[in-house]
Amino acid sequence: MVDDDQNAILFGGDYNPEQWPEDTWQGDIDKLKQANINVATINVFSWALLEPRENVFNFEQLDRIIALLVRNKIKIILATSTAAIPAWIIQKYPGIARVDVNGIRQKQGKRHNACPNSPDFKRLARGLVKRLVERYKDCPELTYWHVSNEYEGYCYCDNCAVAFREWLQQKYGTLERLNLDWNSNIWSHTYHEWSEIEPPMMTTDLFDNGKPVLSGAAIDYQRFQSDSLLNDFKLERDVIKQFDQQHPVTTNLMGSQKALDYFKWAPEMDIISWDSYPMPDDSAAETAMEHDLMRGLKQQPFLLMEETPNQQNWYPYNALKKPGEMRMLSYQAIAHGANNIAFFQLKQSRSGAEKFHGSVLTHSDSVHTRTFKEVQQLGKEVTKLPMTLNQANVQANVAVIFDWDSYWGLENSIGPLAKLSYVKEVQRFYQMLYGHGLTVDLVAKDADLMKYQLVVAPVLYMMNPQAITNITRYVEQGGTFLTTYMSGIADQTDNIYIGGYPGPLREILGLHIDEHDARSAKQSVRILAMNQSEVGTADGVCDLIIPDTATTLAHYSNDVFYNNYATITRNHYGRGTAYYCGAELSESGLNYLMEKLANTAGLKLGTSPKVEVTTRATAEEKFIFIINTDNREQTIMNPVPLATSLLTGKESATKLVLGPYAVEILHQIL
Ligand code: GLA
Ligand code: ZN
Repeated sequence: MVDDDQNAILFGGDYNPEQWPEDTWQGDIDKLKQANINVATINVFSWALLEPRENVFNFEQLDRIIALLVRNKIKIILATSTAAIPAWIIQKYPGIARVDVNGIRQKQGKRHNACPNSPDFKRLARGLVKRLVERYKDCPELTYWHVSNEYEGYCYCDNCAVAFREWLQQKYGTLERLNLDWNSNIWSHTYHEWSEIEPPMMTTDLFDNGKPVLSGAAIDYQRFQSDSLLNDFKLERDVIKQFDQQHPVTTNLMGSQKALDYFKWAPEMDIISWDSYPMPDDSAAETAMEHDLMRGLKQQPFLLMEETPNQQNWYPYNALKKPGEMRMLSYQAIAHGANNIAFFQLKQSRSGAEKFHGSVLTHSDSVHTRTFKEVQQLGKEVTKLPMTLNQANVQANVAVIFDWDSYWGLENSIGPLAKLSYVKEVQRFYQMLYGHGLTVDLVAKDADLMKYQLVVAPVLYMMNPQAITNITRYVEQGGTFLTTYMSGIADQTDNIYIGGYPGPLREILGLHIDEHDARSAKQSVRILAMNQSEVGTADGVCDLIIPDTATTLAHYSNDVFYNNYATITRNHYGRGTAYYCGAELSESGLNYLMEKLANTAGLKLGTSPKVEVTTRATAEEKFIFIINTDNREQTIMNPVPLATSLLTGKESATKLVLGPYAVEILHQIL
């Protein structure tokens, strides 16, 4: 049981007592305290309760929920409740509801459904948030403000069309400039009045597969909608800051989701928080990459705002988490930078959309369930971790560039390959690094790269002048760089660089490409090293690389007519080295490439792909997380023998035998 330690690491989750009779509340809290819960996220979706009519507010129930938590010394993450719009608002102001990509105006019902550019929404949200902050800013248990919830999705209404035109005028100044940058003479798009420009949607510019005719317009709409939602976040944040400068403000993000360019959001948030819901069959690397991306947004530790303590409910198959799996995933989050653990949700709903979603207290209403006991055990451990861990950041010597412009631009493209998924391609190369025991930061293309021994830029489709300079300087000054097929293809408004792929990266890579093939899995082709031994296979995009100054490290086999073209190359540029991988390689091909990269970059590769070793450190101490991500026993050599185990208090052995999903946290004072 938590001994009301104000300095314990946060361990809690979403709590929705408004779904339950009030006489059950204290009993639930008593049980949750047995699970070592010390924080609750509340008030996420209560707008209709708080403001039953315009400017008529009723905080009585929320007062009692907050009093309950304060009485029980449970910290509070207080949400602003603006993520689901009450029915009366939508009846009174129908223009608040989003218009979807098909042009259909939504009505009340689901959530995340407000038009981000609705003046009515902005006014009403401001009014609600102001009252919440004035009322609760001095609450002794208040810890964080949680604005809205999982901002997502786009709106295509007339408000948005008007705001889009203003956004474009700001960006381009004149229509001539816009027509030029969008190359809008394609299919007679040339615009003569700003009012002629419409949001790209199914009735205008998008094909049935969602891909656009005019790619420059499409990517600008994505940027504009991301900015519009960010403006709504900033609006609420600024109201909070006006009355409360003390408590940090966050909103829960969603990993590698597509709609929002989180690198633009991060500087506006006091701390990153995010919701981690790996699919039951996701690999450990896939989950790790999402954490690394969320940490990479600010290059700082973050909050894990939600995970499920057991089963999901919104995947096609919602497998149970096996014994120890939830604990393993929780420590994996902490290893990658989480400063807390939080669940959706603390008490399972008995109706509605989420009635079968995993929860700490389940429909059994018992403290003897497997889920409850696993949460309880984890809580006992986590709340005893030293608070200095919160200052310790992950130590990575490799960076992977993640880029929403490239995400959008690549997936907006029609050809060369319909199934090309940006995130899956980034994962392919992240997996190559992670599988060899490397710790990776995910960073923006204009981030400081100099501190990394290796920088990998998978499918970096879209470039801009800063990124070109940044990458070129990194290689010139001695860095080791890898980029791949579908990189350096287009400028910021999605016009292809002329002169051969990969455009502005040709010189550092010492090569050019006139043609890229796209092959189905059935047409996979063998890849050979220079001694003609097979290093792997490839399908999907296959670049026909023509080296200029680059050396060929592997080429296609004679299964294809382009067997004399290179597949993998290396080029010395300035004091550094730039590698190019021209095809979607199989695992063995990636292993071959990884060895070459490690050699050049001076990286030591790990030996056990199933055991993750991640270090968080300050100048004074190190926390080494050793995690068996597999459900079979694994044995590894202890990278820091004799260091103390934080979980057992004992000195660690030279060899570590890790049971299924076992975790060890070793501590070193420097
Ligand atoms: C999201 C939301 C929560 C809840 C969970 C369920 O993360 O933020 O409100 O719906 O999904 O997985
Ligand atoms: Zn709108």
